[in-house]
Amino acid sequence: MDKLKELNLAIKAAKNSGKFLKNSWEKQKRVMSQDGRDIKLALDRESEIKIKQELSQSSIYPILGEEYGESGEINLEKPFWVVDPIDGTMNFYKGLPLCAVSIALWQGEAPILGVVYDFMADELYSGIPGQGSYVNGSPIKVNSINSKKFAVIATGFPVAMALDKESMSSFWKLICEFKKIRMLGSAALAMTFVSCQKVDAYYERNIRLWDIAGAAAVLLGAGGYMKMEATQNEKWTYTVFASGCLDLWN
Ligand code: IPD
Ligand code: CA
Repeated sequence: MDKLKELNLAIKAAKNSGKFLKNSWEKQKRVMSQDGRDIKLALDRESEIKIKQELSQSSIYPILGEEYGESGEINLEKPFWVVDPIDGTMNFYKGLPLCAVSIALWQGEAPILGVVYDFMADELYSGIPGQGSYVNGSPIKVNSINSKKFAVIATGFPVAMALDKESMSSFWKLICEFKKIRMLGSAALAMTFVSCQKVDAYYERNIRLWDIAGAAAVLLGAGGYMKMEATQNEKWTYTVFASGCLDLWN
């Protein structure tokens, strides 16, 4: 596989979709559904269609997208694209400029490459594990903070996370050890920000693969650490630990 060719394709698709979303920022944002804690906009779908068209014109791999599911036959052992057409849809809808387009090429339990486009800030993050990560072409690197008491953690309450007293108490037990806690409303950006030291750790329970796949590639390319634990009986759903340094979790 020519990884650079696939990465450039993902960059182009993320940029085109991000520009389209930025241009739609002040226009009508039609709500398609509001189930539970989730929100879906017509623009989520439009963005996914655009990205899929671009990827499938120049790449042979099947695509897993948040809105339309699996296109083509996905075999976990072979490469497939993972697309989140808008991560942080509620932020986007409310006019809070923390949202992103995320695209990764994935295989097995790990990213091959990925991009996260923070289109409101016009910051394009890209990465290939073992080869480096960049923001708008400049290299980025994680930090080496190895103690929770000096670290800022970003987290969230995903749609699939249980919020009962018992779950909240174990969740709180873990995050309250950190110096500061942030909830940004976009898992893709929260995890990507570990790669460029805007936060020091990211942890989220029951998060979907498309929310964090692009960020996982950027984090590993920037020298970071990531652990993913699959949620039982929930396809494409994981608890994710990310940081610059593995020792942070000890
Ligand atoms: C959401 C964001 C949020 C996370 C939610 C996700 P979406 O993604 O990543 O940070 O906590 O679980 O659903 O729906 O805006 O793509
Ligand atoms: Ca989304």
